[in-house]
Amino acid sequence: MTASTQWQLAQDAAERYQTVLTPTILGPFAQALVDFAELQAGEHVGDVGCGTGAAARHAAKTVGSVGQVAGVDVNASMIAVARSLPTVGGDPIEWHVAQATELPFADQSLDIVLCAQTLQFLLEKQPSLAEMKRVVKSSGRVAVSLWTPIEDNPYFYTLVETVARHIGPETAVGLKSAFALTNTDEIYSLLDEAGFAQIDMQMAQLDLPMPALTEFVPRHIQATPMANGFNQASKATQQTVVQEVAEKLNAYVANGRTQIPFHSHMILCRK
Ligand SMILES: C[S@@+](CC[C@H](N)C(=O)[O-])C[C@H]1O[C@@H](n2cnc3c(N)ncnc32)[C@H](O)[C@@H]1O
Repeated sequence: MTASTQWQLAQDAAERYQTVLTPTILGPFAQALVDFAELQAGEHVGDVGCGTGAAARHAAKTVGSVGQVAGVDVNASMIAVARSLPTVGGDPIEWHVAQATELPFADQSLDIVLCAQTLQFLLEKQPSLAEMKRVVKSSGRVAVSLWTPIEDNPYFYTLVETVARHIGPETAVGLKSAFALTNTDEIYSLLDEAGFAQIDMQMAQLDLPMPALTEFVPRHIQATPMANGFNQASKATQQTVVQEVAEKLNAYVANGRTQIPFHSHMILCRK
């Protein structure tokens, strides 16, 4: 597996991730995970694979100044962007550059671990889940979001399929890898094997307003591991990809506004 399948972005792409992807897609789903996990004021929260910190920031608003939130990501560029953003109510969030297999938290020190759209990228899934289990209290919980199959996500499906056809599957995998863990039986087995006592899984649909796709698609690509392959393609090919994606998703445009459904599993496990 290459770094492009573990969602490793350089500093400029991490900044684009925050300005392009977080407001449109990842932010609303991070909020949905925090809501699904029913965080309470005063809770101590860890966000594993926090990226630029969307879930951590939503959590900080909910747990307030009596709670504590820490975000962990292996990618120093993501953490640098997270750290640069303003505090959002409550105490400042702690940010750590660390592997999911070596969480910088004491045993049983957290009420909840959030893991938003990250488990699919972890090479060492069982050791990472064991770490999440180690750091939550005996009554603690772990909340995970994972996309449902790409075919249920028309925007991602169309983009990946079009990039694969015009540029190549080795470029498309940079986004397709986000759909490496979508099967409910496989997810359940993974969490069951990790020893969680109770595993509740639901599917969340968010109908997300999107900017005009001819403008959004190239900016989105630059915020993903597909950027290198896309930038190496000819300008004509790049334009064809953008035009085709926009045309194929035209069914989601009404009165000049684009709104596209996205689907994710929301999973809550108890220790
Ligand atoms: C798609 S991003 C999701 C980020 C964030 N949770 C969100 O919802 O916006 C996946 C993140 O997982 C991180 N990641 C990948 N492998 C990791 C590992 N072994 N340990 C910690 N973080 C990891 C990546 O650096 C990236 O920031």
